Amino acid sequence: MPQPEQRFSASVQRCFSRSAANYQRGATLQAAVAARLGGLIRAQASPLPPGPRADLGAGSGLLARAIEAQLDGPPLLRLDACPALLAQELRANGTPPQREWDLNQGLPAELRGAALLASSFALQWLAQPADQLGGWCDALRSGGVLALALPCRGSFSLWQDAARRAEVPCTALPLPEPDQLIQRAAQALELTHGRVLRFSRPNPGALAFLQQIKGIGAQASPAATLHAGQLRRLIRHWPGPEQAIVWHVLVLMGRKR
Ligand SMILES: C[S@@+](CC[C@H](N)C(=O)[O-])C[C@H]1O[C@@H](n2cnc3c(N)ncnc32)[C@H](O)[C@@H]1O
Repeated sequence: MPQPEQRFSASVQRCFSRSAANYQRGATLQAAVAARLGGLIRAQASPLPPGPRADLGAGSGLLARAIEAQLDGPPLLRLDACPALLAQELRANGTPPQREWDLNQGLPAELRGAALLASSFALQWLAQPADQLGGWCDALRSGGVLALALPCRGSFSLWQDAARRAEVPCTALPLPEPDQLIQRAAQALELTHGRVLRFSRPNPGALAFLQQIKGIGAQASPAATLHAGQLRRLIRHWPGPEQAIVWHVLVLMGRKR
């Protein structure tokens, strides 16, 4: 991986690590999406073939637990690069299988021939999301299931518009193009679901919104941090509460041919 990508990945992990203790309290959208994905897996993916099951970028295990509540069978392996987030689940729920792992390296050998690879709100943090998604599809056994959710392009247009009007850089994480991911998955999978959902959340103002993002450790950005004057300009150009914060979340599911 080239140097700037390594530096960015390290900064992602630092941010999540510092806020790990607050993640579950602040990650309300992530919890709602995990529950939805769990229900979709129950409706469309069972029965699963035998083989390893994993939550990729599991963090504190929201998605793994939502899936385990819906499916019989062994627990999912929780894979994540952030030990502090993995440890959040250890304290709450005993010891589910976990592995500290950097997903920019692909998948560990033990997931070759996987029966279920699930991931929520994680793929967008990787250096090459479409290539990593291709590797995840390759790792599935025939009949194995991929279940994926992630925020994608089109999210936070309010933030981008405000930054443009304020003439400051937008420090939101650049998000993947959903069609590119759908096409990549369709090369290997029979897709059963591929839809972009819109979630609207109240707009609490620029500072409170940026604090919400930071509160769960999701503030890493390849863009430089705004200096105080730029931040003041962004705050001045941020719209009022009549304009909601909108997330576009790609939910994708398919079975390996
Ligand atoms: C927003 S959290 C989502 C956690 C969980 N999937 C959920 O829905 O609550 C993003 C997760 O991706 C993980 N992550 C980011 N980059 C990663 C990488 N290169 N390798 C493994 N995990 C990574 C973070 O550590 C964090 O746990």
